[in-house]
Amino acid sequence: MPIVQVESLRKSYGTLQAVDGISFTVNKGECFGLLGPNGAGKTTTIRMLYGYTPRVAGHLELFGLNIDRDLREIKQHIGICQQEDSLDPDLNVRENLVGFARYFSIPRPAAERRADELLEFFALHNRANDKIATLSGGLKRRLMLARALINTPDLLILDEPTTGLDPQSRQLLWEKLVDLKEAGLTILLTTHYMEEAARLCDRLVIIDHGRILVEGTPAALVREQVGQAVLEINDPDQAVRAFLARERCRVEDLGRRLLVHLDDGDALFLRLTREVRAEGCTLRPATLEDLFLKLTGRELRE
Ligand SMILES: Nc1ncnc2c1ncn2[C@@H]1O[C@H](COP(=O)(O)OP(=O)(O)OP(=O)(O)O)[C@@H](O)[C@H]1O
Ligand SMILES: [Mg+2]
Repeated sequence: MPIVQVESLRKSYGTLQAVDGISFTVNKGECFGLLGPNGAGKTTTIRMLYGYTPRVAGHLELFGLNIDRDLREIKQHIGICQQEDSLDPDLNVRENLVGFARYFSIPRPAAERRADELLEFFALHNRANDKIATLSGGLKRRLMLARALINTPDLLILDEPTTGLDPQSRQLLWEKLVDLKEAGLTILLTTHYMEEAARLCDRLVIIDHGRILVEGTPAALVREQVGQAVLEINDPDQAVRAFLARERCRVEDLGRRLLVHLDDGDALFLRLTREVRAEGCTLRPATLEDLFLKLTGRELRE
């Protein structure tokens, strides 16, 4: 039985179709990613999963329970880390955790034990008595994540867990999420960071304008839709462009930079750099970011 089952989910705001018929399933123990540019409909989708935003149409089941009938029961088993900071500024770090446990009717002694466990796990124990206002962005995020785990959920829903964090904080959070995944937790996350998705997600969908464009494992999607390698060419001149046209290459033209998607890059790279130009040409493995840009284009969203 899947942990999350979403079928033909829809949400509109006036004439805008924010979520336009999305279907996916998340299996037990899996980390599933929702990727998409700003305004794609990621937050709206996951908010419908826990009844925060009412849906217009579609069928939703979590843990085999129907969201319309069993929302209270479902909520007992999920942990939610929202996109924006929702910590209580009047409480200190530890009180934010213990206080939140009341929503799940966790008895005070058990809540305190769980809070201390989570403070330790997220390396927040030295800040237990500090006010929220004294925390950095990275610490607040860790606390938000700790709070989402207070009820020892079976499903953790994370909306952009590392947006705005420095590389150190991001790496630490990734490590913690991998630990949680290895302990068997099912995770549903949204992200703009392709490296994050590639590292954490077993499967993912890329959505845009409220619709799913592709679904699969990160490695297979990159291999199928982009190729093995990407040749980057800075400041391309006419000779380079003519060469690529002759070779019928798949070129993403960024103006000052060309990205050439290749199945087997070595031979072409050697010929280009020997026969035409070596300067400003780099061959690298294809990434999820190449796929994301190929599918969602380059125009700015919101
Ligand atoms: N309460 C609302 N009223 C009107 N429009 C809304 C509302 N909430 C979201 N939208 C619109 O719905 C679309 C989807 O928004 P959503 O927040 O789900 O996108 P997102 O993928 O989470 O984007 P981001 O990456 O910026 O967080 C956007 O065009 C947004 O402007
Ligand atoms: Mg969002």
